Amino acid sequence: MKDRRDGAARIRPRTVVMSVVAGATMLAATALTAPAANAAASTLGAAAAQSGRYFGAATSSFMFSNTQHTTILNREFNSIVAENEMKWDATEPQQNVFNFTGADRLVAHARANGMSVRGHALVWHSQQPGWAQNMSGTALRNAMINHVTRVATHFRGQIHSWDVVNEAFADGGSGGRRDSNLQRTGNDWIEVAFRTAKAADPNAKLCYNDYNTDGINAKSTGIYNMVRDFKSRGVPIDCVGFQSHLGTTLASDYQANLQRFADLGVDVQITELDVAQGANQASIYERVTRACLAVARCNGITVWGVRDNDSWRRGENPLLFDANGNKKPAYTSVLNALNSVSGPNPTTPPPNPTTPPPNPTTPPPSGGGACSASVSLNSWSGGFVATVRVTAGNAAIRGWTVRITLPGGTTVTGTWNAQASGSSGTVNFSNVSYNGQLSAGGSTEFGFQGTGTGPSGTPTCTAT
Ligand code: G3I
Repeated sequence: MKDRRDGAARIRPRTVVMSVVAGATMLAATALTAPAANAAASTLGAAAAQSGRYFGAATSSFMFSNTQHTTILNREFNSIVAENEMKWDATEPQQNVFNFTGADRLVAHARANGMSVRGHALVWHSQQPGWAQNMSGTALRNAMINHVTRVATHFRGQIHSWDVVNEAFADGGSGGRRDSNLQRTGNDWIEVAFRTAKAADPNAKLCYNDYNTDGINAKSTGIYNMVRDFKSRGVPIDCVGFQSHLGTTLASDYQANLQRFADLGVDVQITELDVAQGANQASIYERVTRACLAVARCNGITVWGVRDNDSWRRGENPLLFDANGNKKPAYTSVLNALNSVSGPNPTTPPPNPTTPPPNPTTPPPSGGGACSASVSLNSWSGGFVATVRVTAGNAAIRGWTVRITLPGGTTVTGTWNAQASGSSGTVNFSNVSYNGQLSAGGSTEFGFQGTGTGPSGTPTCTAT
């Protein structure tokens, strides 16, 4: 069990604001004398959607055969996350051998039922497959890059928000990083993971996710400083996940903490909410919900399971439905809080995750233009990741080839979003089926990783 931070003070409940919807046929006099309350939504997902948010739950594909679990899941939630099936040990049990069976079933279930999907988690010190646990240095760094690339590419366009890196900060008062095999590859491993994920799935929101960050404390401040640094240097981070595995009290600055991250220019999400059963359970659920609703950049809330008996904290009955599938008082408090706010609020609503990836059979635009390419490098001793941006000139192009000369002794070990002609010397990287067509001035990114030293010269780009 995690060491959960418990703050003592309570947030005074905000005044409940009932919004008024006047239908087209409603008489003005009637509306003035007898305001009709907004019809309250009857499920968590629908209630959250009124303000442009999602309300999700963690689940597992093997639970879909449990009728009670799945009936509640499909009825109440409009986002799901894999409790375990997208983790490194599940998706890459042997190095470079990928298994997406459970995760694909989960995504298919979401699509079939109109739900979006959070991705959890690309890189984490825990639940690594045995082969990765035994790795270190450049080999582990390259394995991590390959893992992020392959998994994020597999689910490209299907995930609204990815936990790119999970739980990398230490507990206690240091505000620093947790020691792990990943951390020992170099302090830049987190930004390498984010840049790699960005190249593989450019439209997903990329999140950093952690626990014991439920208020302003040393750990959340360490993460805050990292996010501020990433934003200032252009590292592609879009959101921060607050797991919120809570005890019997809630820190009084829970909302203020969300807001200070939002003020850095990232979205915030409550990602693994569960609250120990006790006198305050319903009230804490309500206050967390209201905190998210009060922060414009809070996109949504995910609870870490459906029924109490599905929970990793089973003995604490921490969820919204009891073991018989009945709604608990905490459920009602969350639903009422969600229904107390209406109208779109989040400044950057999540992309529609059920939109399929671009159709490669769409006829290409007219070609004939030129292109240019620029390389940004993340290097460490013995290896690098190159992210290459290809930009069309003032006419549309149908395809492109970028020619890059590598220093002697450098070898390309993996490429994403492009086809490489070789692995050393001068290498031609050509578009793949889905990213060759660029409108005038449009751009796309591909990337490659390698051992040795990254390229330093200017690449040439030829349009086709
Ligand atoms: O599937 C195997 C099964 O075949 C085997 O017989 C059994 C024996 O122990 O283990 C099963 O796997 C377990 C798995 O859950 C699926 O039930 C693992 O042992 C167990 O360690 C794993 O626990 C998960 C835990 O992460 C692992 O660290 C929990 O379900 C999951 O709720 C929990 O989720 C984490 C988030 O990812 C990150 N934040 C904290 C949160 C709670 O710890």
